[in-house]
Amino acid sequence: MPLVDMKDMLDHAYRNGYAVGAFDLVSLDFLEAILMAAERACSPVILSLAESHFEYYDFELALAATDAGARRAGVPVAIHLDHGASYESAVLGINLGCNGVMVDASHEAFATNAALTRRVSDMAHACGVCVEGELGYVAGVEGEDAAKHPGEVVYTLVDEACAYVERTRVDCLAVSIGTVHGRLRGPPKLDFERLMRINDAVKLPLVIHGDTGLSDEQFHRLIAHGVTKINYYTALSDAAAETIRANARADGLSGYTGLAKGVREAIAAEVERCQHVFGAAGRAAGVLAECRSWQSVEHVILYNVEGVGDAEVEAIMARGREVLSQIPGVRRVITGRAVLEDKPRYCFSWLIEFAHRAVIDSYRDHPLHLDFANRVFRPIAGDRVSIDYVSVDRVAPPVASRVSPHDARG
Ligand code: 13P
Repeated sequence: MPLVDMKDMLDHAYRNGYAVGAFDLVSLDFLEAILMAAERACSPVILSLAESHFEYYDFELALAATDAGARRAGVPVAIHLDHGASYESAVLGINLGCNGVMVDASHEAFATNAALTRRVSDMAHACGVCVEGELGYVAGVEGEDAAKHPGEVVYTLVDEACAYVERTRVDCLAVSIGTVHGRLRGPPKLDFERLMRINDAVKLPLVIHGDTGLSDEQFHRLIAHGVTKINYYTALSDAAAETIRANARADGLSGYTGLAKGVREAIAAEVERCQHVFGAAGRAAGVLAECRSWQSVEHVILYNVEGVGDAEVEAIMARGREVLSQIPGVRRVITGRAVLEDKPRYCFSWLIEFAHRAVIDSYRDHPLHLDFANRVFRPIAGDRVSIDYVSVDRVAPPVASRVSPHDARG
């Protein structure tokens, strides 16, 4: 159950003067390593999936694994869509399990950026999901040489930051003060004066992207001026690649698993180091005590039909599965028929999983639901009951009591 409300997690970090690492994952090795490191550091952690990496993995499968990993973790975890490219990406991320979303329109003009971000904010907040917006432009590409992607950094303007936060209602704001995504050539020059003025003006958890290559001292200064989410990827990717190269040098005939040996440990060591530098180490218990847990809700309907045959009921179920699963915050729609046929009290069922209890209201009022319920379903299902259940998840066993297969395999 250690999925926690991401806004609460960031507010906790903001109040207590530390930052949570948001680590992009691109494979199961990354996912396991990040969680293993967070458990070793007893820190909260954000598992981040960047849309720019979707060409390397199946987002739906990766999120299913991420969700399962987060639920069995012994430390507080949030799952975040990083650099979402559109409104539709944000809806998909939420419906597949993200409890934080970023829509990145930072390359657009202020008005376009603010309008798209506000649209995502309204939708995501109606699902209880935390929203990150970005103002200013952080150039470069995660995992590559920044020099190969020399786009201009556009610094965040203090006045615009205030207007943007007011217009978009974001929960945290990514700002550009001199970092770039990817490998740096020389030491980056950060505009701390600008960061300080933004922090004083917006008083909101701040986010920095492109953090590979910054010094410990730079991280400490960022955190002192309101940075509570630090996005980190390239150094993890480089640690993994270096391990694979060393394996290849040691045994040129290694197979895939031989080449990947030690990759998890290399990634975990860097994540753990970061969590100590960011001040997140040792904060897990405080976050679990003070932040709301992130729990889904099961909307259950049991019903009988009147005046329609089996084929028509099944067609209505199929239509419902298609239409209702498009509604933001609906994680899955399962339609059922009673197993026992000798006159059960109710013959048919819906099980609709909502990402969060906020979805009870937003789903009920959503036009797709209203149309389906009023025009298609209710006229044939007068005899029905419906109840919303909050799921009572199994609490993860204490970290030390679990046997970790990665410890053995490295
Ligand atoms: P780096 O790859 O430079 O660490 O930045 C990661 C990032 O900002 C992801 O959003």
